[in-house]
Amino acid sequence: GIAQCVDRSEFAPLKNDLILRAARGETVERPPCWIMRQAGRYLPEYHEVKDGRDFFETCRDAEIASEITIQPVRRYAGLLDAAIIFSDILVIPQAMGMQVEMVDGKGPHFPAPLRTETDLQTVLEYKVDVLKELDWAFKAITLTRKKLDGQVPLFGFCGGPWTLLVYMTEGGGSRLFRFAKEWINKRPDLSKKLLQKITDVAVEFLSQQVFAGAQILQIFESWGGELSCDDFDEFSLPYLRQIASKVPQRLSELGITEKIPLVVFAKGSWYALDKLCDSGYDVVSLDWLWDPKEATRINRGRVTLQGNLDPGVIYGTNEMITKKVARMIDGFGGGKKHHIVNFGHGTHPFMDPEKIRFFLEECHRIGSQE
Ligand code: CP3
Repeated sequence: GIAQCVDRSEFAPLKNDLILRAARGETVERPPCWIMRQAGRYLPEYHEVKDGRDFFETCRDAEIASEITIQPVRRYAGLLDAAIIFSDILVIPQAMGMQVEMVDGKGPHFPAPLRTETDLQTVLEYKVDVLKELDWAFKAITLTRKKLDGQVPLFGFCGGPWTLLVYMTEGGGSRLFRFAKEWINKRPDLSKKLLQKITDVAVEFLSQQVFAGAQILQIFESWGGELSCDDFDEFSLPYLRQIASKVPQRLSELGITEKIPLVVFAKGSWYALDKLCDSGYDVVSLDWLWDPKEATRINRGRVTLQGNLDPGVIYGTNEMITKKVARMIDGFGGGKKHHIVNFGHGTHPFMDPEKIRFFLEECHRIGSQE
């Protein structure tokens, strides 16, 4: 592909690099805070800007996407230590030639999911030009990085290969995972070809997001926990490892010499924590099923752990939020090392933004205590 037109020397220096220092394993003054899905439907200002438009249309409009990305950073001024670009994990299947629609109130829908060998072959043979297909994503990142003006680092992201295989074969959300399970159990060979193709696209996409201005990267393996331990080792972990080893190589080819922290979130894959701590990632993100103390013990100081408040606590009283924040931060060792505060999964559309503010304030207060 042709290089992106980005003058990286124009980006403002960072005023808050707390999350980058925590990701590198340095001792920090308090745990950095951000929230998965911190932009979006629980914020009235999101609906105002989206104004009934199609979801992917808002992602593809750099002005709108950058505005939505910055909304939570502005609302919670000084409380969030990172922004995450407003986009979706399903833009990789789109770049691989598949049609994906976002149905309001229902979620993603693929009109033609991969069900036959011919379907799969078509995707395997599709020539993906990441720079061309996803150029809108890079433009949105560059614009957002400029607008952020160094306030906080900007996350780039993508879906984990297994999670994307699930969406591409199921055609949307799923309860039984019937088609994805059929693929890996009937045609593990072809399933692995698809996982490899997704991985190759993900490596290029993530690397180009950094070139465009992303300062830290997260991989969302949201359906990790649908795999047995054995199957995770075969159909998820090898591809997550490849991403962690190939992105830095690709970045150095692109002339980027600084170390970009990599975060992996394999939701539900509790059995894989020990291996994930050794898989090339700087940060391992945990869902709320983890006891922070147990996860910290298993980690043995190898990586920084991210998480892991049950998002449902936001529906509770302030007293309950305070209690759970204190337990979380204490469980991760006090927040001065190897911890990034987050939820164990994303925000919900029904959450009260003021409760989320209280959560962030408490993380700052409790996380700053000696
Ligand atoms: O603030 C942010 O976190 C940035 C943007 C972001 C979105 N999706 C916006 C979005 C990110 C990082 C994602 C990742 C994503 N997308 C994941 C991984 C994280 C996770 O939740 O496990 C997954 C599985 C998807 C796929 C997806 N996109 C689903 C299942 C849905 C519908 C259900 C839902 O929760 O809304 C989406 C739509 C989507 N992605 C919305 C937003 C703000 C809602 C769109 C709308 O109706 O306005």
